[in-house]
Amino acid sequence: MKTYRVAILGCRARGIQGGQAYHAHPRTEIVGLCDLVQERLDEMGEMFDVDARFTDLDEMIEQTQPDVVAIPTGTEFHHELALRVLEHGVNIDIEKPLCTSLDQADEVVAKAKEKDVEIAVHHQGRVGAGVVAAHKAYTEGRIGKLLYLYTRDKGYYGGLGIMNIATHKVNTMLKFAGHVRSVSAVATTDGRLIQPEDVVTSPLGMGTIAGEYITATLQFDNDVTGGLLQHRLPRNDTKLSAIELFGTEGRMIVRWEAAWALPHPHYIPGEGKDVWEPIDPIVPEGFNPDDDASLDEYCYVDEYVRALDEGRPHECNGAEGLHVLEVLMGVFESAAYGKRVALPQERRSHPLLQWRKENGLGEPDPVRRDFREWYVDEDRRLGRA
Ligand SMILES: NC(=O)c1ccc[n+]([C@@H]2O[C@H](COP(=O)([O-])OP(=O)(O)OC[C@H]3O[C@@H](n4cnc5c(N)ncnc54)[C@H](O)[C@@H]3O)[C@@H](O)[C@H]2O)c1
Repeated sequence: MKTYRVAILGCRARGIQGGQAYHAHPRTEIVGLCDLVQERLDEMGEMFDVDARFTDLDEMIEQTQPDVVAIPTGTEFHHELALRVLEHGVNIDIEKPLCTSLDQADEVVAKAKEKDVEIAVHHQGRVGAGVVAAHKAYTEGRIGKLLYLYTRDKGYYGGLGIMNIATHKVNTMLKFAGHVRSVSAVATTDGRLIQPEDVVTSPLGMGTIAGEYITATLQFDNDVTGGLLQHRLPRNDTKLSAIELFGTEGRMIVRWEAAWALPHPHYIPGEGKDVWEPIDPIVPEGFNPDDDASLDEYCYVDEYVRALDEGRPHECNGAEGLHVLEVLMGVFESAAYGKRVALPQERRSHPLLQWRKENGLGEPDPVRRDFREWYVDEDRRLGRA
């Protein structure tokens, strides 16, 4: 059985977390590392015992001949770096979201097609042990026919949450509900509907965003309706981050690592029918909880190994990553223009930049990248500080 050679471009937190899984998996080997900052390169090189360290990505690829290049860099760099890496005709594993706009993502997907290689977008939750188990239970009829599903964020500023967290959630929703045909959304900032002036540059390099509080309805295939809440909360709470599915026979709560089912579609409190039954996670063979790799990262790498063995796309492939971005851009467009947006969109430029342009405004100002500092500036813009 082939061992896949993996090179990692970007040696900060996400590079390390992905690297732990590539290091732990018996069928993948880290053969090269690249970062512009020598200190990070050396730290990660020591961690995984990799001597092939580079500050130039082309040199890394030419010298190490990887099967996969992981690109765990800030989202604002995905477009440029993915195109550069794909030019070498190598498969990629790119962090989520795929890009900051549809026109950029289209180019990345087209380049992979031209070079006949695969894109995996790092939405590890969709192939996580809890989600896989819930999906198996669902396909076996545990909650009957899916009627609707909804998800909420852990509390980021709405527009940031859309790019940063909803990207994961929407991708997992696709696994259960199929593709999204249209999006209707409402976004408010400071208690009023967003205005072109409320379109701002995102912290964390996530492109252009708008809305502190975003509520969206997604129309999926087969008459399934999805709800998406991205509301700014006083503080983030990871426990809020889950997907709930409502079927004709029962309900499910799904998180990456765990899932629960309620064997009734509805219940009246006090009737004793409100007991959520845990669903056993499906853990890939070979996962060792004593390794540093997290279970969902390991599942994601395991899926890439199986996909490459079988000559098929990763479940979190470029086409799915592109569709997720269509949903996210659809949310912004619908909220800005106050209308339902049919997918896929014909216009591929960023809808919020278009909206500003039509209202005589240029691109929003650059911002501080750190999201806590960004919150201070945004509150000041809104006259709160
Ligand atoms: N999947 C998840 O659960 C998850 C969680 C958090 C963040 N993310 C994503 O991870 C990504 C990484 O975000 P970040 O803010 O940590 O990234 P970052 O840009 O701060 O860090 C990436 C590293 O890449 C290096 N780098 C950048 N350009 C380079 C180049 N041209 N050549 C070599 N090295 C280069 C930087 O020096 C840095 O060390 C984002 O897309 C984010 O959305 C994913």
